[in-house]
Amino acid sequence: MPRPLIIAPSILASDFAKLGEEVRAIDAAGCDWVHVDVMDGHFVPNISIGPDVVKALRPHSKKIFDVHLMIAPCDPYLEAFAKAGSDIITVHVEAGPHVHRSLQAIRALGKKAGVTLNPSTPVSTLENVIDLVDLILVMSVNPGFGGQAFIPAALEKIGAVRALVGGRPIDLEVDGGVTADNAAKVVQAGANVLVAGSAVFKGGDYKGNIAAIRQAGAVARGEAA
Ligand code: DX5
Ligand code: ZN
Repeated sequence: MPRPLIIAPSILASDFAKLGEEVRAIDAAGCDWVHVDVMDGHFVPNISIGPDVVKALRPHSKKIFDVHLMIAPCDPYLEAFAKAGSDIITVHVEAGPHVHRSLQAIRALGKKAGVTLNPSTPVSTLENVIDLVDLILVMSVNPGFGGQAFIPAALEKIGAVRALVGGRPIDLEVDGGVTADNAAKVVQAGANVLVAGSAVFKGGDYKGNIAAIRQAGAVARGEAA
Protein backbone atom coordinates (compact mmCIF):
# COMPACT_ATOMS: atom_id res chain seq x y z
CA MET A 1 0.00 0.00 0.00
CA PRO A 2 1.44 3.39 -0.94
CA ARG A 3 1.48 5.96 1.81
CA PRO A 4 -1.35 8.49 1.52
CA LEU A 5 -1.01 11.77 -0.32
CA ILE A 6 -0.64 14.54 2.26
CA ILE A 7 -0.96 18.28 1.64
CA ALA A 8 0.84 20.32 4.32
CA PRO A 9 0.46 24.09 4.02
CA SER A 10 3.36 26.05 5.49
CA ILE A 11 2.08 28.77 7.81
CA LEU A 12 5.26 30.72 7.07
CA ALA A 13 3.26 32.18 4.18
CA SER A 14 0.28 33.10 6.37
CA ASP A 15 -0.56 36.40 8.02
CA PHE A 16 1.41 36.28 11.29
CA ALA A 17 -0.88 38.94 12.79
CA LYS A 18 -3.68 36.36 12.86
CA LEU A 19 -1.92 33.01 13.03
CA GLY A 20 -4.63 31.18 14.99
CA GLU A 21 -7.26 32.22 12.49
CA GLU A 22 -4.99 31.16 9.61
CA VAL A 23 -4.48 27.69 11.10
CA ARG A 24 -8.24 27.30 11.53
CA ALA A 25 -8.73 28.46 7.95
CA ILE A 26 -6.34 25.92 6.38
CA ASP A 27 -7.83 23.21 8.59
CA ALA A 28 -11.32 24.09 7.35
CA ALA A 29 -9.98 24.32 3.79
CA GLY A 30 -8.99 20.66 3.89
CA CYS A 31 -5.28 20.53 4.66
CA ASP A 32 -3.95 17.22 6.02
CA TRP A 33 -1.08 18.54 8.13
CA VAL A 34 0.02 21.98 9.33
CA HIS A 35 3.68 22.62 8.43
CA VAL A 36 5.45 24.88 10.90
CA ASP A 37 8.77 26.43 9.87
CA VAL A 38 11.07 27.26 12.76
CA MET A 39 14.08 29.46 11.92
CA ASP A 40 16.80 30.77 14.19
CA GLY A 41 18.72 33.41 12.21
CA HIS A 42 21.81 31.23 12.57
CA PHE A 43 21.27 27.94 10.74
CA VAL A 44 19.23 29.90 8.20
CA PRO A 45 19.28 33.65 7.50
CA ASN A 46 15.79 34.33 8.84
CA ILE A 47 13.95 34.17 12.15
CA SER A 48 10.38 32.88 12.42
CA ILE A 49 8.64 31.31 15.37
CA GLY A 50 9.42 29.33 18.52
CA PRO A 51 7.81 26.74 20.79
CA ASP A 52 5.51 29.21 22.55
CA VAL A 53 3.85 30.01 19.23
CA VAL A 54 3.40 26.30 18.47
CA LYS A 55 1.82 25.92 21.93
CA ALA A 56 -0.49 28.88 21.32
CA LEU A 57 -1.58 27.44 17.96
CA ARG A 58 -2.16 23.91 19.23
CA PRO A 59 -5.79 24.47 20.36
CA HIS A 60 -6.71 25.84 16.92
CA SER A 61 -6.49 22.52 15.05
CA LYS A 62 -6.47 18.79 15.73
CA LYS A 63 -4.49 18.11 12.56
CA ILE A 64 -0.90 16.86 12.60
CA PHE A 65 1.59 19.61 13.45
CA ASP A 66 4.60 18.94 11.23
CA VAL A 67 7.37 21.02 12.76
CA HIS A 68 10.44 21.70 10.61
CA LEU A 69 13.36 22.87 12.74
CA MET A 70 15.83 25.02 10.81
CA ILE A 71 17.88 25.64 13.93
CA ALA A 72 21.33 24.73 15.21
CA PRO A 73 21.82 23.39 17.72
CA CYS A 74 18.45 21.65 17.81
CA ASP A 75 18.87 19.30 20.77
CA PRO A 76 18.28 21.91 23.51
CA TYR A 77 14.85 22.73 22.04
CA LEU A 78 13.41 19.31 21.17
CA GLU A 79 11.62 18.88 24.48
CA ALA A 80 10.04 22.33 24.27
CA PHE A 81 8.71 21.64 20.77
CA ALA A 82 7.43 18.24 21.87
CA LYS A 83 5.66 19.68 24.90
CA ALA A 84 4.23 22.49 22.77
CA GLY A 85 2.21 19.90 20.85
CA SER A 86 4.29 19.00 17.79
CA ASP A 87 3.39 15.63 16.27
CA ILE A 88 6.35 15.32 13.91
CA ILE A 89 9.68 17.02 14.62
CA THR A 90 12.12 17.23 11.73
CA VAL A 91 15.77 18.14 12.11
CA HIS A 92 18.44 18.89 9.51
CA VAL A 93 21.40 16.54 9.00
CA GLU A 94 23.53 19.69 8.72
CA ALA A 95 22.42 21.07 12.10
CA GLY A 96 25.10 19.28 14.09
CA PRO A 97 27.38 16.26 14.30
CA HIS A 98 24.89 14.14 16.23
CA VAL A 99 21.74 13.89 14.17
CA HIS A 100 21.47 10.24 15.21
CA ARG A 101 21.19 11.36 18.84
CA SER A 102 18.67 14.07 17.94
CA LEU A 103 16.42 11.55 16.20
CA GLN A 104 16.63 9.16 19.14
CA ALA A 105 15.71 12.05 21.43
CA ILE A 106 12.64 12.95 19.37
CA ARG A 107 11.38 9.37 19.51
CA ALA A 108 12.13 9.20 23.24
CA LEU A 109 9.85 12.22 23.63
CA GLY A 110 7.08 10.16 22.02
CA LYS A 111 7.05 12.07 18.75
CA LYS A 112 7.51 11.08 15.12
CA ALA A 113 11.04 11.83 13.98
CA GLY A 114 11.86 13.47 10.68
CA VAL A 115 15.18 14.15 9.02
CA THR A 116 15.88 16.62 6.25
CA LEU A 117 18.72 17.71 4.03
CA ASN A 118 19.59 20.90 2.19
CA PRO A 119 19.85 20.95 -1.62
CA SER A 120 23.66 20.68 -1.48
CA THR A 121 23.70 17.70 0.89
CA PRO A 122 23.96 14.18 -0.57
CA VAL A 123 21.37 11.47 0.01
CA SER A 124 24.09 9.25 1.51
CA THR A 125 23.84 11.32 4.74
CA LEU A 126 20.53 9.56 5.38
CA GLU A 127 21.84 6.01 5.16
CA ASN A 128 22.94 5.65 8.77
CA VAL A 129 19.83 7.18 10.32
CA ILE A 130 17.10 5.73 8.14
CA ASP A 131 15.96 3.23 10.75
CA LEU A 132 15.37 6.05 13.24
CA VAL A 133 12.98 8.11 11.13
CA ASP A 134 9.30 8.28 10.32
CA LEU A 135 9.73 10.98 7.69
CA ILE A 136 12.38 12.20 5.27
CA LEU A 137 12.10 15.75 3.95
CA VAL A 138 13.86 16.69 0.73
CA MET A 139 14.39 20.45 0.56
CA SER A 140 13.66 21.76 -2.90
CA VAL A 141 14.86 25.29 -2.04
CA ASN A 142 17.61 26.54 0.23
CA PRO A 143 15.80 26.90 3.54
CA GLY A 144 15.12 30.29 5.09
CA PHE A 145 12.45 31.90 3.01
CA GLY A 146 9.10 31.14 1.44
CA GLY A 147 8.27 32.00 -2.15
CA GLN A 148 11.44 30.66 -3.80
CA ALA A 149 11.55 28.72 -7.05
CA PHE A 150 11.65 24.90 -6.96
CA ILE A 151 15.16 23.57 -7.69
CA PRO A 152 14.67 21.00 -10.51
CA ALA A 153 17.53 18.77 -9.31
CA ALA A 154 15.37 17.95 -6.29
CA LEU A 155 13.35 15.58 -8.49
CA GLU A 156 16.26 13.22 -9.02
CA LYS A 157 17.05 13.43 -5.33
CA ILE A 158 13.49 12.51 -4.38
CA GLY A 159 13.86 9.45 -6.61
CA ALA A 160 17.09 8.46 -4.91
CA VAL A 161 15.52 8.84 -1.47
CA ARG A 162 12.49 6.83 -2.60
CA ALA A 163 14.84 4.01 -3.64
CA LEU A 164 16.69 4.20 -0.33
CA VAL A 165 13.43 4.07 1.66
CA GLY A 166 12.24 0.92 -0.14
CA GLY A 167 9.39 -0.71 1.79
CA ARG A 168 10.04 1.08 5.07
CA PRO A 169 7.06 2.93 6.63
CA ILE A 170 8.56 6.37 6.02
CA ASP A 171 6.80 9.44 4.60
CA LEU A 172 8.72 11.25 1.88
CA GLU A 173 8.08 14.99 2.05
CA VAL A 174 9.13 17.79 -0.28
CA ASP A 175 9.36 21.43 0.78
CA GLY A 176 10.01 24.58 -1.22
CA GLY A 177 8.45 25.99 -4.34
CA VAL A 178 5.82 23.26 -4.62
CA THR A 179 2.77 24.33 -6.65
CA ALA A 180 -0.17 22.76 -8.45
CA ASP A 181 1.95 22.99 -11.60
CA ASN A 182 4.87 20.87 -10.39
CA ALA A 183 3.05 18.65 -7.84
CA ALA A 184 2.63 15.86 -10.40
CA LYS A 185 6.37 15.65 -11.09
CA VAL A 186 7.14 15.70 -7.37
CA VAL A 187 4.71 12.86 -6.75
CA GLN A 188 5.92 10.90 -9.77
CA ALA A 189 9.45 11.18 -8.40
CA GLY A 190 8.27 9.42 -5.25
CA ALA A 191 7.07 11.99 -2.69
CA ASN A 192 3.79 11.55 -0.79
CA VAL A 193 3.85 14.69 1.40
CA LEU A 194 3.72 18.07 -0.32
CA VAL A 195 4.53 21.21 1.68
CA ALA A 196 3.27 24.41 0.10
CA GLY A 197 3.39 27.93 1.50
CA SER A 198 2.86 30.53 -1.21
CA ALA A 199 0.84 28.18 -3.40
CA VAL A 200 -1.74 27.68 -0.62
CA PHE A 201 -1.93 31.19 0.83
CA LYS A 202 -1.80 33.18 -2.42
CA GLY A 203 -5.00 34.94 -3.33
CA GLY A 204 -6.91 33.84 -0.23
CA ASP A 205 -8.72 30.81 -1.76
CA TYR A 206 -7.11 28.27 0.53
CA LYS A 207 -9.67 25.58 -0.26
CA GLY A 208 -9.25 25.95 -4.02
CA ASN A 209 -5.47 26.14 -3.76
CA ILE A 210 -5.20 23.02 -1.58
CA ALA A 211 -7.63 21.18 -3.87
CA ALA A 212 -5.60 22.09 -6.97
CA ILE A 213 -2.38 20.72 -5.47
CA ARG A 214 -4.18 17.60 -4.22
CA GLN A 215 -5.81 17.00 -7.59
CA ALA A 216 -2.48 17.26 -9.43
CA GLY A 217 -0.89 14.84 -6.97
CA ALA A 218 -3.82 12.42 -7.06
CA VAL A 219 -3.78 12.30 -10.88
CA ALA A 220 -0.06 11.53 -10.80
CA ARG A 221 -0.76 8.67 -8.38
CA GLY A 222 -3.52 7.32 -10.62
CA GLU A 223 -6.09 8.05 -7.92
CA ALA A 224 -8.03 10.69 -9.88
CA ALA A 225 -8.67 11.57 -13.49
C1 DX5 B 1 11.64 27.19 3.53
C2 DX5 B 1 10.54 26.53 4.33
C3 DX5 B 1 9.36 26.16 3.48
C4 DX5 B 1 8.73 27.31 2.79
C5 DX5 B 1 7.72 26.83 1.78
O1 DX5 B 1 12.67 27.49 4.39
O2 DX5 B 1 11.00 25.37 4.96
O3 DX5 B 1 8.42 25.43 4.23
O4 DX5 B 1 8.10 28.18 3.67
O5 DX5 B 1 7.21 27.94 1.15
P1 DX5 B 1 6.95 27.99 -0.40
O6 DX5 B 1 5.95 26.93 -0.69
O7 DX5 B 1 6.43 29.35 -0.61
O8 DX5 B 1 8.25 27.75 -1.08
ZN1 ZN C 1 9.53 23.83 5.89
